[in-house]
Amino acid sequence: MDDYLNGLWFMTGDPVADAEAAGTEGLVEAMRYSLLAGGKRIRPVLALATCQALGRDPDEIMPAAAAIELIHTYSLIHDDLPAMDDDDLRRGTPTCHVVYGDDVAILAGDALFAEGVRLVCEGQGGGPAVQVGILGEISRATGVVGMVGGQYLDIEDAGGSSADALARVHALKTGRLMAAAVHVALVLAPPPAAEDAAYRAFARELGLLFQIVDDILDVAGSEEELGKAVGTDERLGKVTYVSLHGMERARELAAESHARAIGLLDGVDGQVDDLAGIADTAFTRQS
Ligand code: IPE
Ligand code: IPE
Ligand code: MG
Ligand code: MG
Ligand code: MG
Repeated sequence: MDDYLNGLWFMTGDPVADAEAAGTEGLVEAMRYSLLAGGKRIRPVLALATCQALGRDPDEIMPAAAAIELIHTYSLIHDDLPAMDDDDLRRGTPTCHVVYGDDVAILAGDALFAEGVRLVCEGQGGGPAVQVGILGEISRATGVVGMVGGQYLDIEDAGGSSADALARVHALKTGRLMAAAVHVALVLAPPPAAEDAAYRAFARELGLLFQIVDDILDVAGSEEELGKAVGTDERLGKVTYVSLHGMERARELAAESHARAIGLLDGVDGQVDDLAGIADTAFTRQS
């Protein structure tokens, strides 16, 4: 995975077009700075593990998996901007805007989104129908009924503060893009309908679990292990699983979500050990 990401320089291979992009090296540097700073890579690894569970070579989904990591990285760069969460540390290093400025950080995020789409168009195998299906999954998970819509509800406090409303914000801002990592493999290698539904339900649960734990770690985690600041949610007065339910109940809800996710894998025929391992990691992680 990291080798693949490390090989991305975002040129086109067309000498005329690439020559016209002379001078954009600083933009590419900012993109690669955030992309290659580390990160758990849970989304792309999830795509590879799903592909494997479906009986296919994981490498077959690599371009789509990488595209999701590019889009996720863009979401982090923008999430950290002063106009949003105003965080200075990410993936163990100063955030993109701290190093390159807000203006370049915004553009680096924009370009990572577009380059993610291009990776699928130019690198993903399976033919045009698979590529369009994958782009549909990724763009849906990123747009209004996905990550950006969830971020909007988060910053505007527009989701409401009931438990259901909070679960909905979490499902959108974090769950959808994570679930897309499972969905892209389902597009490439469709299983029977009942299994497809089980995979999708697992993906949805995993996304929720991941953000519940993110809320817990913002209070109980360590900056050193997380590679990002703790206490941001409280500083910004965010409604989170911890602020709404208390730490003890938040941990119980995470445990229940983890158990549901593992249970949903019973509905899947393939080799699901790696998927179960990812759910375990999402639950027990400290970073
Ligand atoms: C952080 O995601 C932002 C959320 C959606 C909770 P990760 O915890 O996956 O961040 P990286 O990719 O490992 O840096
Ligand atoms: C952000 O949620 C989810 C994204 C879409 C980036 P958070 O704001 O809680 O993520 P962290 O804690 O900064 O990683
Ligand atoms: Mg945020
Ligand atoms: Mg944040
Ligand atoms: Mg957080």
